[in-house]
Amino acid sequence: MDKIFLSIILCLLPFSLANISTVDGKIKITIGTTAGCSDTVRFINQQLVPAFELYSEYLNIEYFPLGRTRRDDNGTLICQFGVNDCWANRLHRCALHLLDNQEAQLEYMICEFSSPYPAFLQNSYQCAENVGLSINNIENCFATDNNDLESISENASLIPMQVINFVPFITLNDVIDLDVHNQARQDLVKLICTALSNDSSTGISINDC
Ligand SMILES: *[C@@H]1O[C@H](CO)[C@@H](O)[C@H](O)[C@H]1NC(C)=O
Ligand SMILES: *[C@@H]1O[C@H](CO)[C@@H](O)[C@H](O)[C@H]1NC(C)=O
Ligand SMILES: *[C@@H]1O[C@H](CO)[C@@H](O)[C@H](O)[C@H]1NC(C)=O
Ligand SMILES: *[C@@H]1O[C@H](CO)[C@@H](O)[C@H](O)[C@H]1NC(C)=O
Repeated sequence: MDKIFLSIILCLLPFSLANISTVDGKIKITIGTTAGCSDTVRFINQQLVPAFELYSEYLNIEYFPLGRTRRDDNGTLICQFGVNDCWANRLHRCALHLLDNQEAQLEYMICEFSSPYPAFLQNSYQCAENVGLSINNIENCFATDNNDLESISENASLIPMQVINFVPFITLNDVIDLDVHNQARQDLVKLICTALSNDSSTGISINDC
């Protein structure tokens, strides 16, 4: 009995957990998303939300809605899931840019990455409105800031997409590492908890993880 149990445990833990350290008591999580992507839906709802519920005060989350894109001969962005994906990502970038706290940003992303996927499937501003943004401000952002926001996302996604080659890509504390990305997708709570437990200022014990 015990031996079988032990070997099951060992099979579930084939690698050692990545060593993540806090920086000034916090951990930065960077997530490259794209609107039409079901793996992004899963990561946000199954990994990021539980981690945020437990450890939001220690997290600093940044999103780059761009995904796997290329540019055609005229320099127009081509998105993985077509024109709706591009439009929704544009809305995501503006909404995230206009929201000034990470609770509201996550609430917004949960809305966009849950049925009925308002921006992507319905071309709707509903999620932006739900978190209190005005359509005027969004459309202003489309008209004035969007090229910069797109370029920032594009530049920030370049190396992570080369190294990780997956959407969503996840990096912690700006370290671009496939192993860390995979562990974050598998059990973000455990990864964050373990890192926080090594920082005595958090008061979190490894036994909590
Ligand atoms: C993490 O750090 C410990 C102790 O410094 C080391 O033994 C272990 O190999 C490291 N694990 C990884 C995945 O780097
Ligand atoms: C834990 O913290 C100590 C002291 O700050 C540091 O030297 C060590 O590398 C950290 N270990 C991991 C696994 O991050
Ligand atoms: C680039 O723009 C030209 C002129 O508007 C157009 O004829 C051509 O089809 C465009 N190429 C692509 C790949 O969209
Ligand atoms: C993105 O990178 C390009 C090429 O290096 C650079 O010209 C551009 O200014 C960058 N955009 C932003 C917003 O940093």
